[in-house]
Amino acid sequence: MLSYQHGFHAGNQADVHKHCLLLGLLSLIAKKARPITYIESHAGRGLYDLAGEQAQKTGEWRSGIGAIYEQAGLPTPLARYRDVVARWNRGEAILQYPGSPCIAGGALRKRDKLVLFEQHGTEFQALETAMTNHYRHAEAIRGDGYDGMFDVFSDHDPRHRLIAMIDPSYELKEDFTRAPTFAERLVALVPDALVMLWYPVLSRDEIGLEHAVPAPQSGSFHSIIRFPQHREGHRMVGSGMVIYGDISENRRPLKVLDRALQAHFAV
Ligand SMILES: C[S@@+](CC[C@H](N)C(=O)[O-])C[C@H]1O[C@@H](n2cnc3c(N)ncnc32)[C@H](O)[C@@H]1O
Repeated sequence: MLSYQHGFHAGNQADVHKHCLLLGLLSLIAKKARPITYIESHAGRGLYDLAGEQAQKTGEWRSGIGAIYEQAGLPTPLARYRDVVARWNRGEAILQYPGSPCIAGGALRKRDKLVLFEQHGTEFQALETAMTNHYRHAEAIRGDGYDGMFDVFSDHDPRHRLIAMIDPSYELKEDFTRAPTFAERLVALVPDALVMLWYPVLSRDEIGLEHAVPAPQSGSFHSIIRFPQHREGHRMVGSGMVIYGDISENRRPLKVLDRALQAHFAV
């Protein structure tokens, strides 16, 4: 039985990296007329309570969203992300944090679809409630996200552009090899799809995904940021995101976003 719960980590530095890129990519693709189907294999609970026990216990969000929430003069792509989080808090002190399903729900249009897989019972129930309350065009499904995502890719409406997010907890070591192989399989199946894969950059003595990810194929995109350990002994020292598929038409704005993130985390 897996025990990972994202509530301990929501809004941390890795989430800032992941969710800025997600918002940036979806905003670019949503400028096109073609409808989008957005699929998440590991959706989490959708909305997180930063005043709750889990977030308070680790305090990880303070060096993530907490550090930029009130910051003046943010570069535009980071300010857009901060404004999304601010809307979830009515512009007041930050109490709740939108996970990737809510970030995506806000960036997409009514004609787009969201299909969200989550395996953990309690997390799924929270996800379903968040989607029912905020994004009625989203479908939350309890079950294995690898199988579910593959089924969506195998039998999708070809009028829709598929954008996927794979964001495992990496509690299972096999995710370090399974997730990138799976992402490559998806873009081989649907060549105009874009598949985002997040992974933790681990301290030097540990083997993380950066060793397993093959040199990005032509067209794909790879962003890695490094940050100070949140606390002594914390294994994660950075965050990585690969976007599989052909992003050549959006490479320039994604590079601008990547540079803004690099500069933010270098401070
Ligand atoms: C890192 S969290 C997701 C965070 C979320 N994507 C976000 O950014 O807001 C990973 C989630 O995957 C779920 N999970 C683990 N294995 C899964 C599987 N095989 N299929 C679907 N969900 C799974 C966990 O319960 C956990 O909620």
